[in-house]
Amino acid sequence: MAASMYRLVYYSRNHIAHDQALFASNIQKILEKSRINNQRDEITGALLFNAGCFAQVLEGPLDKVEAAFERIQQDERHGDVSLLALDPISRRSFPNWAMGFIGTSDIQAKRFAGIGASTGFDPSRLSGDEIHALLRDLAIEEEAA
Ligand SMILES: Cc1cc2nc3c(=O)[nH]c(=O)nc-3n(C[C@H](O)[C@H](O)[C@H](O)COP(=O)(O)O)c2cc1C
Repeated sequence: MAASMYRLVYYSRNHIAHDQALFASNIQKILEKSRINNQRDEITGALLFNAGCFAQVLEGPLDKVEAAFERIQQDERHGDVSLLALDPISRRSFPNWAMGFIGTSDIQAKRFAGIGASTGFDPSRLSGDEIHALLRDLAIEEEAA
């Protein structure tokens, strides 16, 4: 029987310098490494960056998700890592994404401008369910684009 699957949601504060080129190259390195590790560990999910914060959903076997989160928490490229949810799930929300990065396309930039205007979009003010739903909706848009 396949190990039962879990979804973990957290947010954190960006510690990478605000220089755009430096940020882009760091994100690229994080995504490259994440996609290799996550594929190996049967983890899927999505990573969002906005307003100085990261928010991430990881889904997969519990032991693998926990091990990945341990590594992620020790990463000095971000801090104040706050766990929002760790729940069993019956199916994945991001089956095709070893780790999607959200927030780069024009359509999303516009969407975030809207969210930012109404809420000052700060992931620390959202629940795990809200962050999961937001990332899932953005992933569906991205796949349709
Ligand atoms: C915001 C953020 C998200 C990350 N997401 C993942 C991830 O999904 N999977 C992963 O393996 N590492 C992720 N990392 C990288 C880990 O912190 C760590 O550098 C990496 O897992 C080390 O892998 P290694 O032990 O194979 O060198 C992330 C790092 C940051 C800062």
